Amino acid sequence: MKTTITEVAKHVGEEVTIGAWLSNKRSSGKIAFLQLRDGTGFMQGIVVKADIGEEKFQEAKALTQESSLYVTGVIVEDTRSPLGFEMQVNDFEIIHEAVDYPITPKEHGTEFLMDHRHLWLRSKRQHAVMKVRNEIIRATYEFFNENGYVKIDPPILTGSSAEGTTELFHTKYFEEDAYLSQSGQLYMEAAAMAFGRVFSFGPTFRAEKSKTRRHLIEFWMIEPEMAFMDHEDSLEVQEQYVSHVVQSVLNNCKIELEALGRDTEKLEKVKAPFPRISYDDAIQMVKEKGFDDIEWGDDFGAPHETAIAESYDKPVFITNYPAEIKAFYMKPDPKRSEVVLCADLIAPEGYGEIIGGSQRIDDLELMKQRYEEHDLTGDAYKWYLQLREYGSVPHSGFGLGLERTVAWIAGVEHVRETIPFPRLLNRLYP
Ligand code: 4AD
Ligand code: MG
Repeated sequence: MKTTITEVAKHVGEEVTIGAWLSNKRSSGKIAFLQLRDGTGFMQGIVVKADIGEEKFQEAKALTQESSLYVTGVIVEDTRSPLGFEMQVNDFEIIHEAVDYPITPKEHGTEFLMDHRHLWLRSKRQHAVMKVRNEIIRATYEFFNENGYVKIDPPILTGSSAEGTTELFHTKYFEEDAYLSQSGQLYMEAAAMAFGRVFSFGPTFRAEKSKTRRHLIEFWMIEPEMAFMDHEDSLEVQEQYVSHVVQSVLNNCKIELEALGRDTEKLEKVKAPFPRISYDDAIQMVKEKGFDDIEWGDDFGAPHETAIAESYDKPVFITNYPAEIKAFYMKPDPKRSEVVLCADLIAPEGYGEIIGGSQRIDDLELMKQRYEEHDLTGDAYKWYLQLREYGSVPHSGFGLGLERTVAWIAGVEHVRETIPFPRLLNRLYP
């Protein structure tokens, strides 16, 4: 009977066949240990010479890394392995023999691994990271579907900018100019006026010449947008959502978190509510931590965010930034117009900003004024303003960067390992 590694628990004591690749092996004179992977998981296969016969045993000893096989054997419990099971191999058939697989079990440099990303994805660690990513996506749909949100897909080719004009990828759209979407937000605002509560999940692009462990050129964003919700309401949605995602990974990715060596105690603490600190207080805190030259009105850099996050064991909201350093669409605080009703959510352990969100300007005249101040033209001008002409309502939304969230939850240093095929400054291959 054919099965997969994730299903072996149902077949203890039975003989099954698994299509697999050989990720590694070791052997002695009498026994060979095959490290098998089939895409769903990793499992050890034991080949005993006395059981399988001399000829087949020699064939097992000669198997090369990443050769593909059908392996047949009996599933037995094995408390030492993370999976909890192994296979006593009775027979195997080579499907395809791999010769000189380039990624050996020894250490390789990052550039070499990145050049072989199409193969590197097969490794245990990369497999675990992608499974965590998949669980975050699953838990995202679960959370928003259970809370009455409608999934809406904004376009990727757009005629305008959502987050500032300097980081846009330009392309020709027949005779017109077009840009790859930096954020679906403006379209999600239109969707919120039609469906109340909406969320998107899709690729976004920033032509930003940043080469840090937090920046990708192409990254995936989850962007909820809610009609009739103010800034405070939105913060509650954010903390509930992030808590749900973290707890789902803890429950459903135990093997993966162990493979990654993730300290899960830190993740256990990530439960709503999250602390909130105003931008004003955050500036003060950063000064006290020894960054003397930061002034009110400056944006935080990665070291500042890390310093702030150190004081908390949960993600922390930094709220009410100066309007000057934030996007044109954010609603000014009615009590203090130099700051806006916004928050960035900073992940613990130095992973930095994972969410940017705000209440949006709902007043037509003010929005017109902002467009002028920011010198914004392009074809969003008309339709986006019309949302404020016909039944404008208070509304808020946010964007969670998937890769930074994966990096934090999986405990991975650099976002390049959190997306299957990263697009980085100077990297479009493979
Ligand atoms: O803070 P950002 O730029 O906000 C927006 O785009 C809003 N329009 C979202 C909204 O309100 N609907 O980006 C949101 C998040 C960041 O907090 C970060 O997690 C991620 O997107 N992000 C990046 N991730 C990887 N590489 C980059 N270059 C990123 N830029 C932003
Ligand atoms: Mg931001």
